[in-house]
Amino acid sequence: MADDTDSSGISFTAFYTGEVWQRHGLSVPFLSSVQGRRLYIAGRPVEWLGKWLIGANNEILLLQRHLIIDDIVRRAIRDEGVTQIVEIACGLSPRGTRFSREFAGKGLVYIEADLPGMAARKRHLLEKAGELGSAHRVIDINILEQGTTDALETVFARDLDPARKTLVITEGLINYFDYATIHGFWTRLANCLRAFPAGIYVSDLYPNFHWHRFVRIADRLKSGLAIATRSHVTLHFDTEADIHDGFRAAGFAQTRVHLPESYYGVLEIPEQRIPSIVRVLENRVKPHQ
Ligand SMILES: C[S@@+](CC[C@H](N)C(=O)[O-])C[C@H]1O[C@@H](n2cnc3c(N)ncnc32)[C@H](O)[C@@H]1O
Repeated sequence: MADDTDSSGISFTAFYTGEVWQRHGLSVPFLSSVQGRRLYIAGRPVEWLGKWLIGANNEILLLQRHLIIDDIVRRAIRDEGVTQIVEIACGLSPRGTRFSREFAGKGLVYIEADLPGMAARKRHLLEKAGELGSAHRVIDINILEQGTTDALETVFARDLDPARKTLVITEGLINYFDYATIHGFWTRLANCLRAFPAGIYVSDLYPNFHWHRFVRIADRLKSGLAIATRSHVTLHFDTEADIHDGFRAAGFAQTRVHLPESYYGVLEIPEQRIPSIVRVLENRVKPHQ
């Protein structure tokens, strides 16, 4: 990356994940894209091979992370009174539309955020579908910028209501950056979230668990993804204890690590033959019992 704050090379991956949500009935028709359909078809041979050889593939991991994040967000709204959601790196995620519909009339504000190009596309699609309003908006953000109009601190001060219990989501974002860069973002995010009556940060994570066969495969594939996205694809944290230490160091008071296996038979999530490699993290700036 020539410019240290330009990670727009990652944006095309949102078309692939967007199509996965479509194919599994998790999305809404107006968020489908030609690019997504093409990428999905191109990815079929590798996905089929993975399923056939080891009983696991990227698509299963995507669905596991998506549905577990949904479950955590839904519980935070229902049980803890969260009324402000910010989905950073939203891409073509249908979550904003689905949650806005599910909690219509219950005071939920859902803010989708992405780099300006992807945000403009999302805003246009939602506007055309009649889904935008003061309670469901799309804003520009760049998690790498500081002191600009799209920087996290500026966006939070300008676009968020400090009186609301707030939950931030990132999905499919953090493994595109090296540790120092993403840890810097987490530290700034924890700092911003402390201003709200409750501050929760939910994200997926692909850890660097060497004992895991899939990690050894992913380790080999990551340089290809790094070249395609012009980013620094990195698997973060060697152990679960490291995850807790890393988020504590970033300023979070509590971290829960969710394993897909603990949701088998609880949520309708796809299961795989080998242990899952994706984790969903639920971080809080103030502890919750
Ligand atoms: C893999 S896609 C994930 C999209 C969506 N969250 C999902 O799971 O379907 C990665 C997203 O990160 C966004 N992105 C890349 N760099 C970013 C940055 N510096 N700040 C905010 N978003 C960024 C891209 O535009 C893209 O929408």
